[in-house]
Amino acid sequence: MLDDDIKKILLLDRTTGGNIIWATAERSTQPIQLADVESIVPRHEKNRADQKSRTRARAEIFTPPEVCRIQNNLIVAPYGNRWQEFIDAKFLEITCGEAPYITSRYNAVTGAPIPFTERVGLLDEKLRTIERETSAVADRLEFVTRAVKSIYGYEFQGDNLFLARRNVFETVSEFFRDELRLKPPEDFLPHVAEIISWNLWQMDGLTNSPPFTDNANLFGGANCLIMDWATREPVEFVTLIGRARR
Ligand SMILES: C[S@@+](CC[C@H](N)C(=O)[O-])C[C@H]1O[C@@H](n2cnc3c(N)ncnc32)[C@H](O)[C@@H]1O
Repeated sequence: MLDDDIKKILLLDRTTGGNIIWATAERSTQPIQLADVESIVPRHEKNRADQKSRTRARAEIFTPPEVCRIQNNLIVAPYGNRWQEFIDAKFLEITCGEAPYITSRYNAVTGAPIPFTERVGLLDEKLRTIERETSAVADRLEFVTRAVKSIYGYEFQGDNLFLARRNVFETVSEFFRDELRLKPPEDFLPHVAEIISWNLWQMDGLTNSPPFTDNANLFGGANCLIMDWATREPVEFVTLIGRARR
């Protein structure tokens, strides 16, 4: 269970300065409020009619962990023993849904929980690497922060984006509680939530703008912002396209 202060951070939209919006067929541009959060359920808990209409409207079909595992293994393998490089390597899950390529706390198709050691997400693999390669508390805090900063995702529908953010947050907080059995300093998890609120953002991937806005709209430019953690300066995502390492 998340406390309200964390939920509030996980609802922030860093481009608009408000909350993320629903951007679903029923509730389009309304912001998601704190009180709405309890009503958000993952796709596997939605009724069949909802699932069908979301598939029709937004091509919402989630990838099973067996498939994520095969693809993510191809990404991870080349790093070999260069574990620090792997922790810092940046990954983006485009149209991330509930973010199964980042962390697989549950099977996104069936909802079955997946134990930490069997998870297939890239953040999951980074956390297992940190557990294996580090032992000092300060190192663990430092590398987990770096791992979270390295993982990005964007999504159109606000409820999915909130679930993706919550999944990343819960993965990190469970890692400290259940795997490391370590209570991080008071400000650590709120800081993780802040990072997540920048790194998983709401965007229409066809316009690089928040859903239902674009650069020709009445309010002027609305290119989505993400954080460059090296310079601590926000950058327009659109300016990075084509610059990724091949
Ligand atoms: C096929 S699902 C994939 C989700 C997840 N990456 C996975 O593999 O399970 C596609 C996702 O893209 C989102 N989506 C659809 N159109 C989009 C757009 N124009 N921009 C961003 N996301 C979009 C949907 O809301 C949905 O969550």
